Amino acid sequence: MKLTRRSVVATALASPLILRRARAADMRARIDVNTENTRGAIDRKIYGNFIEHLGRCIDGGVFQEGSRLADATGYRRDVLEAVQGLDVSLLRWPGGNFSSNYHWMDGIGPRDARPPRLEMAWGTVESNRFGTHEFLDYAALLKTEPYICANLGTGTWTEAQQWVEYCNSAEDTAITRMRRQNGRKDPWKVTYWGLGNEMDGPWQMGHRSAEDYGKFALEAAKLMRWTDPGVKLIAAGSSNYASGVDWSLWNRTVVEHLQNYIDYLAIHLYVGNENDDFGEFLASSRLMDDKIEITAKVIDGALAGRTDGKKVHIAFDEYNVWYRARGDGQRGRRILEERYNLEDALVIATFLNSLVNHADVVKIANMAQLVNVIAPIFTSDEGLFLQTIYYPLQLFAKNAHGDSLALAVDVPSYDTKQWRDVPYLDVSGAIDGNTLVLNVVNRHKDEAIDTTIAIEDKTFAGAVSVTEVNGPDIKAGNDFGKTEVRAQSRTVNARGNTAQHSFPPHSFTQLKVQLS
Ligand code: AHR
Repeated sequence: MKLTRRSVVATALASPLILRRARAADMRARIDVNTENTRGAIDRKIYGNFIEHLGRCIDGGVFQEGSRLADATGYRRDVLEAVQGLDVSLLRWPGGNFSSNYHWMDGIGPRDARPPRLEMAWGTVESNRFGTHEFLDYAALLKTEPYICANLGTGTWTEAQQWVEYCNSAEDTAITRMRRQNGRKDPWKVTYWGLGNEMDGPWQMGHRSAEDYGKFALEAAKLMRWTDPGVKLIAAGSSNYASGVDWSLWNRTVVEHLQNYIDYLAIHLYVGNENDDFGEFLASSRLMDDKIEITAKVIDGALAGRTDGKKVHIAFDEYNVWYRARGDGQRGRRILEERYNLEDALVIATFLNSLVNHADVVKIANMAQLVNVIAPIFTSDEGLFLQTIYYPLQLFAKNAHGDSLALAVDVPSYDTKQWRDVPYLDVSGAIDGNTLVLNVVNRHKDEAIDTTIAIEDKTFAGAVSVTEVNGPDIKAGNDFGKTEVRAQSRTVNARGNTAQHSFPPHSFTQLKVQLS
């Protein structure tokens, strides 16, 4: 057997060490675990989510005044319960593209007195009935850390600064008096603030060049920080991957301008299966790996020469599969309502593997979005169902904690039109005390992969909880009253330092076991 080190330089930074057999005919694999071999703490904020004033995400999703399913505030109780099942660690709001023309003062005060405004990002009218209080109270109900994206498109420095003051200041000022009049005595203390959204995109209201954004965001950042030194600021990195666009140059310029004020640089990625090519689609996480690894290097480059140990981490604050409900027609109320199938859920599991495998540099991530709009939860006026992508996100959020493990994986691989040597098993691992979690996607459409799991420095202590996300075929999906794809758990036993597991075709499996 010829063992070859994976040769893609960019992935050597953080992906599992792939020891791949040169085109093995048999579908066998081996995962070697050494619990001392870690690559950094997994920040729970990588299991975040996102709600935008877009389609039925908030209005008709999270919030539906007058619905028999809503509570007195207007929050949908059934949605809240489904969201609670995701252990959302960080919730981003109000956009997205929406944030670039959102004037937060429109969304405070008595609801009936709030002004309806033309909403130009997605072509509707914004009622402003869900605003700062509704969002921050919702985050509190979820026990989730809020993350507010300020308007650095059509907004002003003062507007961004005063939003921080309204939310965070305990001083007696004209702004905090408004908060008190609106029923909130104590500040909420919002830590995470975005300095605009996708400001490199010509589609963005208030789009700017990197230089202009860097200078503008710097003044906003100063005022926000001087209002509350505890805030953590997230700069808008590039998400414009159109050919001919130098997205790395945008990132470098922005970090150079903002380095003294920011803690994170935000990047986004959406993928799709436009050509109906399962193998290619399942390799999409290579794009995420690349975006992360290249951005991490660019940040390092921008900070080179500093001697104070300053860190700027990556906030992957939008990611998902999004291609069916996309394009120019997506304006109005029922938009971006992507219906997911099994293969989409597997891609999401590989994305989550990528985030865990880059735990040293990615410290925030938000699936976009939470309800109805490219989302794991889908509602009607009568109820909801859980989309396929709900399950991998739930399993990671609930279980993949502690330190990210650098694993050695020996597995057959395949080529696609775009990528070479894509391992059939995509793997990440987490160790939290003595709890080991392995997350494994079998990218093979037809074959199971018999795998030896070997622990170098410890032994299995007994019961292994095996949870599998799978379905009758790769196109299977869920709907109201129909659940074809779900997570199913069972327990098996393992003793000593090796175990065998056969990963079924087109599946995501999470193994959770105590070691001793
Ligand atoms: O999540 C949908 C949209 O995708 C967001 O509004 C925007 O930031 C991105 O382009």
